[in-house]
Amino acid sequence: MDIPELPSPLGRSPSFLSTMSAISLLAPLNKPVLVIGERGTGKELVASRLHYLSSRWNQPFVKLNCAALAESLLEAELFGHETGAFTGAQKRRLGRFELAHRGTLFLDEIANAPMTVQETILRVVEYGTFERVGGSETVRVDVRLVAATNVDLPAMAAAGKFRADLLDRLAFDVVTLPPLRHRQEDLELLAEHMALEMTKELKRDVFPGFTQRAIDQLAAYHWPGNVRELKNVIERAIYRATDLEEPIDEIVFDPFASPWRPAENPAPAAAAPIAAPAPAPAASAPASAPVPTGAYDFCEHIRLYERELLRRALEANAHHQKNTAKYLEMTYHQLRAQLRKHGLIGG
Ligand SMILES: Nc1ncnc2c1ncn2[C@@H]1O[C@H](COP(=O)(O)OP(=O)(O)OP(=O)(O)O)[C@@H](O)[C@H]1O
Ligand SMILES: [Mg+2]
Repeated sequence: MDIPELPSPLGRSPSFLSTMSAISLLAPLNKPVLVIGERGTGKELVASRLHYLSSRWNQPFVKLNCAALAESLLEAELFGHETGAFTGAQKRRLGRFELAHRGTLFLDEIANAPMTVQETILRVVEYGTFERVGGSETVRVDVRLVAATNVDLPAMAAAGKFRADLLDRLAFDVVTLPPLRHRQEDLELLAEHMALEMTKELKRDVFPGFTQRAIDQLAAYHWPGNVRELKNVIERAIYRATDLEEPIDEIVFDPFASPWRPAENPAPAAAAPIAAPAPAPAASAPASAPVPTGAYDFCEHIRLYERELLRRALEANAHHQKNTAKYLEMTYHQLRAQLRKHGLIGG
């Protein structure tokens, strides 16, 4: 069977391969599936694979993010509405359930569906019927549900924040996706693949590979945004490379990292009576930076400010001191002296 839309996730780690086998087993069943995983682990990819590997593959695959809409809009979006159901409802509109008839409906971020909507979804799962908003006609649909979440739904159900009966029905079986940090075998494979794709996109001839140091940095990072974050990091590393022949050595994990990054909660003007020294970064000195108490101690303010800048620069460069020195436009020895002075390294 050749299905052009069938997504083919990449991976060779044991946890990835066993998840893929579970998906192949589950796909042909006409049962709801719950996909659980941290952000960026591939939940949507898995949902579409479940659809395209099922007998419904040539029927609609419809998606809706339950976190994207307010309660009444979500209801109308899922179940449709009749003419005049609410202000602005000038004609009948079919909802996602009807649009997904004979196919699959992917409900993303299901934990965000309000209780009333959960109740109606429960009815559709049980009986396959519902009414459009503002209507009384019973609509019958044949839809396979795949839902996704990155939260602990059983804990939410136990706390009364999610309907336990809906959870039972949605979770005929559960696919839990392993985070990227537990799939070291996949990391290099994915990074290489993404780098090649980006090289093609930039119309460059060759991808010169990564240095061992870059590979070690990728392996040591904890990837909170998983595969999506890896894609961004790799694509950034490729496009920023200046010497196209040299292997990629520079990996920037946090594109926001900058000593000039605005403070999380800018301090009110009264709390900062003295502007910190030029250049401009001083104006955005991190609000979280410790502020000395008591009489205004200029030297202590400067010391804490410098220490915070050093700490952030280190963080932005994954604690790699040579890169941090380059980033701060210092020599390596100057940086080491500063770090020692501020107690950020021993010795
Ligand atoms: N194993 C994989 N192979 C190739 N690409 C992958 C793989 N896993 C995820 N991706 C890619 O990573 C990105 C994120 O995947 P996806 O959108 O499915 O994640 P998600 O779990 O739904 O994320 P979120 O929780 O943020 O909605 C997509 O570009 C997807 O194609
Ligand atoms: Mg998603």
